[in-house]
Amino acid sequence: MIAVRRVSAADVVDVRHAVLRPGRPRETALFAGDEDADTRHWGALLDDRIVGVVSVMAAPAPDGIDADWQLRGMAVLSELQGAHVGAALVRTVHAEVAAPMWCNARAAVEGFYARQGWRAVGELFEIPPIGPHRRMWWPGA
Ligand SMILES: CC(C)(COP(=O)(O)OP(=O)(O)OC[C@H]1O[C@@H](n2cnc3c(N)ncnc32)[C@H](O)[C@@H]1OP(=O)(O)O)[C@@H](O)C(=O)NCCC(=O)NCCS
Repeated sequence: MIAVRRVSAADVVDVRHAVLRPGRPRETALFAGDEDADTRHWGALLDDRIVGVVSVMAAPAPDGIDADWQLRGMAVLSELQGAHVGAALVRTVHAEVAAPMWCNARAAVEGFYARQGWRAVGELFEIPPIGPHRRMWWPGA
């Protein structure tokens, strides 16, 4: 049974590193703003092990998007992907943040965000060395 709860900045690093920065230095999984007072982190726990993570931090949206909060570091361990862990994390974030949010979605997972009610904004763009992304926006609760 998956339980989603708030965790610390340090708690999200292992899953972020394994899923989003594999083979790269652990420091690449630390984000500027992780320790800011208004930054929030959530973990999805399975038997007390963190198997999925996501963070939300204050960041004005680019491109005229109406949102002051950026969703970042969305990651589920590969062996649990497709088991609705990511959806559970986003559901909790929606309920607890409630205000409009934006993110830079990897092009390959745009469909995941769209399933959770996020909308694609604008053209694809590159974030080296990761690849193509698209800005996405959630209008708030
Ligand atoms: C993207 C990610 C967070 C999604 O989490 P997940 O637990 O695997 O996804 P879920 O099982 O909760 O999927 C929820 C719904 O989205 C759909 N979905 C999931 N990944 C999808 C994708 N890549 N494209 C289209 N739809 C997708 C599922 O089919 C499911 O649909 P349903 O509600 O009709 O059953 C996870 O797969 C992951 O960590 N991927 C690698 C890292 C990554 O790309 N992170 C995002 C960076 S922007």
